[in-house]
Amino acid sequence: MRLLDTLRSVMRFRRFELDAVTRRLARSASVADLRQIARRRLPGGVFDYIDGAAEDEITAGRNVEAFRRIEFRPRVLRNVSQVDPSATILGRRVPLPLILSPTGFTRMANSQGELAVARAAARAGLPYVLSSLSTRSIEEVRAVSTGDLWFQVYVWRDKELLAEMLQRATAAEYSTIMITVDTAVLGRRERDLRSGFTLPPKLGLDTLLDGVLHPGWTLDFLRGGPISFANVTGKSVGDGSDPVALADYMNSQFDPSLSWSDVEWFRERWDGKIVLKGIQTVEDAVLAADNGIDAIALSNHGGRQLDGAPPPIELVAPVRHAVGDALEIYCDGGVRRGSDVVKALALGANAAMSGRAYLYGLAAGGERGVDHVLALLDEGIRQTLVLTGSQGLDALGPELVGWRDG
Ligand code: GLV
Repeated sequence: MRLLDTLRSVMRFRRFELDAVTRRLARSASVADLRQIARRRLPGGVFDYIDGAAEDEITAGRNVEAFRRIEFRPRVLRNVSQVDPSATILGRRVPLPLILSPTGFTRMANSQGELAVARAAARAGLPYVLSSLSTRSIEEVRAVSTGDLWFQVYVWRDKELLAEMLQRATAAEYSTIMITVDTAVLGRRERDLRSGFTLPPKLGLDTLLDGVLHPGWTLDFLRGGPISFANVTGKSVGDGSDPVALADYMNSQFDPSLSWSDVEWFRERWDGKIVLKGIQTVEDAVLAADNGIDAIALSNHGGRQLDGAPPPIELVAPVRHAVGDALEIYCDGGVRRGSDVVKALALGANAAMSGRAYLYGLAAGGERGVDHVLALLDEGIRQTLVLTGSQGLDALGPELVGWRDG
């Protein structure tokens, strides 16, 4: 009898959640959990395109590891009953110091693709940077979002096409362009080479089998309609409606001659803010400041370009020291938790950026998965502010963190 009484006192069944997405998300306590779900749900080649990086993926790993080497010096007894994580990014007030990084071919993760991400970003009040190589167009994305949209620019060889894209972004009221400067050629992504990955993924015998083994993704993908590079549909540069290896496409379409003198070309055609993404040294950060750039994203493209490039978080403090307040600094690469965002800000960044984190969420649970990731990051930032004794972002400084060896 006692046994039954004890059992009765502890047994509580979780109500069975009928909706599979809600069930999946409820069990995901972290971005790492969502990555595991994404790995199960996506065909191997698609997951590897998102998750993979250049060559030995040393830089991609170090991006994440570098955050783990940072330790807090938490202060206590500081009345943290109210904390405020709101920030200012390029003159706009935002609820969190966070920008959603541009990611190519987002419809590979889920058929709603960029539309889902733009809606989730707008709900959270955060800037979303649409990729040049998006699978929904500048205008389609604007049609679903009243939020702050930025446009990521790859420098096409075809300058007329590029100028036209800038006009379209202006007409659609994008506030900012983010010029990617680390992609003179595409990094050597060996997972994609091994799998023969193309955009869109082509169906052969092996991929067919992979598709059958991932029915949730396959049904969603097939229902979503053909994928193409939506910003260049119908243009002479090829719009990806025939499967193409990303390296072949980008190496033939993008201009490796891009140099500092081209910044003027952009300024003549773009009235909004200009951000350079892919700055990886103090010297180039100083040049960006000298060239009157509004902000830089310290980034190695999530380790997808030069393997052996330094983790952006390691550059934040020296770059801030060198440029002072001449421009805003964003830290992109390896951000998986709210505490990572707080670490970046303590070292001197104005905001953190993250791409893979929301892609894992999108793959795991569609638009609600992106909401979930943003909620996890929000919660993590607040929790870290409380536990480090910081009432707001103004309280964050280098004295709050230290680097551990190894
Ligand atoms: C595109 O920019 C990619 O990194 O795959």
